[in-house]
Amino acid sequence: MIPKSMRAVVAPNPGGPEVLTLVERPPPTPGPGEILIQVAAAGVNRPDVLQRLGGYAPPPGASDILGLEVAGEVVALGEDVHMYIVGDSVTALIPGGGYAEYAIAHESNALPAPLGFSMVEAAAIPETFFTVWTNVFDRGKLKAGEWLLVHGGSSGIGTTAIMLAKALGSKVIATVGDEVKVKACKRLGADVVVNYKSEDFVAATKEATGRGADVILDMVGGDYVSRNYQAAAVDGRIVQIAFLKGPKTEVDLRPLMMKRLVHTGSTLRPRSADEKAIIAEHLREKVWPLLEAGRCKPIIDSTFPLEDADKAHARMESSAHIGKIVLTM
Ligand SMILES: NC(=O)c1ccc[n+]([C@@H]2O[C@H](COP(=O)([O-])OP(=O)(O)OC[C@H]3O[C@@H](n4cnc5c(N)ncnc54)[C@H](OP(=O)(O)O)[C@@H]3O)[C@@H](O)[C@H]2O)c1
Repeated sequence: MIPKSMRAVVAPNPGGPEVLTLVERPPPTPGPGEILIQVAAAGVNRPDVLQRLGGYAPPPGASDILGLEVAGEVVALGEDVHMYIVGDSVTALIPGGGYAEYAIAHESNALPAPLGFSMVEAAAIPETFFTVWTNVFDRGKLKAGEWLLVHGGSSGIGTTAIMLAKALGSKVIATVGDEVKVKACKRLGADVVVNYKSEDFVAATKEATGRGADVILDMVGGDYVSRNYQAAAVDGRIVQIAFLKGPKTEVDLRPLMMKRLVHTGSTLRPRSADEKAIIAEHLREKVWPLLEAGRCKPIIDSTFPLEDADKAHARMESSAHIGKIVLTM
């Protein structure tokens, strides 16, 4: 039985973690091609923090309830749903609505919860695995044997990028801001980890690789843009997924031409369900077997009950976390 009311978390006004508000809402109704999930756990991501601060509005039609990924049980089906039945355990990428007891997902953007995974672990997969797959492997075209340089190595995105690149045969350099994170990234398999507060990542990358990084996944921007151009190998690909140090900077563009670099980027949330479905299919084919074989698993930093979403956001903004922060219902 689906209740008439559910608990959910919204950010009615921009501000600090304290603006997050627990509200009662009717559970959403699944439309054509959509499934209703009774949420067991929901991942917390940096884009949720940006949305709370007023800088990342939900795309048209998406819920104002925060949350981009959930895991739980399918409890109702919209029309024309073919991939799931009531009772299935799934994990899903959603354009909003995850910090709630019920959430809807397009069936093509859901995947079966991997065998042997807890709901907390399953909820920690979609946002970072979709993002890393589409940016590092689709756009960046990282191949086995090549070097990946990943900034923010201890972040949800960074830990996923390290694990996936290693599981698929690449070599990895990660940058982080303290020694605890250095050790954590090494445990995850990174070949070289640079504490950017005490070491220059450009020099460390050139020394480790002898030629520069083949692919760079960057969420930092600012002065990192120029430094990434220096750290890249000939024919290197640089993929921009955020600008934590700002989107405006002065760049010496000569390496772009001399090294034949490709500098690209993308966002995930505004893409259509059909575009995300293509990424989901790649993950099902290439990554689900790795997860189910125990070759990679999301790193869980901490869990918080839904009503403590403010504490979860404060933890994320402290940047002390390593891996994923997850809300439980
Ligand atoms: N384009 C897309 O499709 C897409 C999708 C998902 C996420 N993202 C972006 O990817 C980034 C990572 O997301 P996430 O959820 O994995 O976040 P997260 O776990 O909070 O990681 C962010 C990390 O960035 C590092 N960092 C470096 N410079 C920073 C600065 N100036 N301010 C704050 N942190 C800084 C921090 O580690 P250190 O302390 O070690 O520096 C921090 O742990 C976010 O910017 C997010 O918006 C983009």
